[in-house]
Amino acid sequence: MIARHDSLPHRRTPAHPLRVGLIGFGKTGGSLVRLADQRDDIDVTWVVRRTAGAAGPGEADHPPVFSTSNTCARWLFANHPVDAVIDFSSPTGLEFYGDAAAAAGASIVNAVSAVERDAHTRFRRWSSRTRVLWSPNITLGINVMMLLAQTLRAVDPCADIEIVEEHFRGKRETSGTALRLADSLGVAAEAVKSVRAGGIVGTHEVIFGSDHQTVRLRHESISREAFADGALFAARQLQGRPNGLYRMEDLLVPYVDAVRYPGALTA
Ligand SMILES: NC(=O)c1ccc[n+]([C@@H]2O[C@H](COP(=O)([O-])OP(=O)(O)OC[C@H]3O[C@@H](n4cnc5c(N)ncnc54)[C@H](OP(=O)(O)O)[C@@H]3O)[C@@H](O)[C@H]2O)c1
Repeated sequence: MIARHDSLPHRRTPAHPLRVGLIGFGKTGGSLVRLADQRDDIDVTWVVRRTAGAAGPGEADHPPVFSTSNTCARWLFANHPVDAVIDFSSPTGLEFYGDAAAAAGASIVNAVSAVERDAHTRFRRWSSRTRVLWSPNITLGINVMMLLAQTLRAVDPCADIEIVEEHFRGKRETSGTALRLADSLGVAAEAVKSVRAGGIVGTHEVIFGSDHQTVRLRHESISREAFADGALFAARQLQGRPNGLYRMEDLLVPYVDAVRYPGALTA
């Protein structure tokens, strides 16, 4: 399903590349720049990080890099306009760009996994002026899996549900994604099973067991580009939508409808 999304009308290369401002130029931000480099429909117009005078993570060719320490966000948006901001920085990143992005009408895709509690109040405020999405796990695969899991739950409410997450040896806490899955399926957080072994990047499995059949949904992360791809998908999908707060599910539901009603996306 994921491999096919480029052939759907929403994913066709538009006439003008989407201009993206990136906040955070670490491991994930760097992978987004590399991925965007291979695509004609995305232009990473600028990057913002904390450190002044530092370039990107190992790339010689990268967009202009600004620092929060000596750049005014309103100046940046006025002089280097973008259609969307993607945030792969830290919980404090939004303090730099949020008001300026909302005032400029640039979509906000915040992918910081653990935001401060008051961030949601800000997201709501900004959403009256632009489109705002926050997703603590922005991969397309996990978000499709969440939709499918909720569908299975509704179809067979009596099935036993088990959630298993596997990660590298050093990860101490239970996966936040597994906890979100559990919450959305009405499974107690304590029931999530965690496996820690070697260098596993990240695997989530939901098992639906009923008397006569077992259904397993399994998602495996291979590389950070999966996060970058999900964030770029969100930025592209938000373009042209009304102002408001969005979740990844909202952007994926039209694809589910397209399966039910072929041609729905071309309408
Ligand atoms: N939603 C998802 O699915 C998903 C997936 C992966 C990662 N993430 C999140 O993305 C974030 C980055 O992860 P990472 O592994 O790439 O981290 P990282 O390698 O440590 O990179 C963080 C980058 O953000 C910059 N930064 C930090 N605070 C900033 C601020 N207040 N203003 C501007 N720039 C700031 C840093 O700048 P300097 O280098 O100058 O210090 C650095 O370039 C984390 O919050 C992580 O939880 C989310």
